[in-house]
Amino acid sequence: MRLEIDPALCQGHARCAAVAPELFELDDDGYIAGRGREFDPALEEAARKGARACPEKVITVFE
Ligand code: F3S
Repeated sequence: MRLEIDPALCQGHARCAAVAPELFELDDDGYIAGRGREFDPALEEAARKGARACPEKVITVFE
C-alpha cells in the first residue's frame, strides 16, 4: 500500500502523528515530514486513521 502526502497543505495540526506515530512524523517546525511512501499493509488501519485525523486532507491512502 502507499501513502501520498502533500506537505504544501499541512498546517501543523499534528493529529496524524498523534494517532499513528508509527507512520507519521513531524519535522522540526511541527509539519508533517516526507512526501509519501510504500508501507506494510498490516499498518492500513493506522494509515487510514492518520488520514482521517488530518483536517487539511494532507494524507491519501492507496491500495
Ligand atoms: Fe499536518 Fe494534517 Fe498532520 S495538518 S501535521 S498532516 S494532521
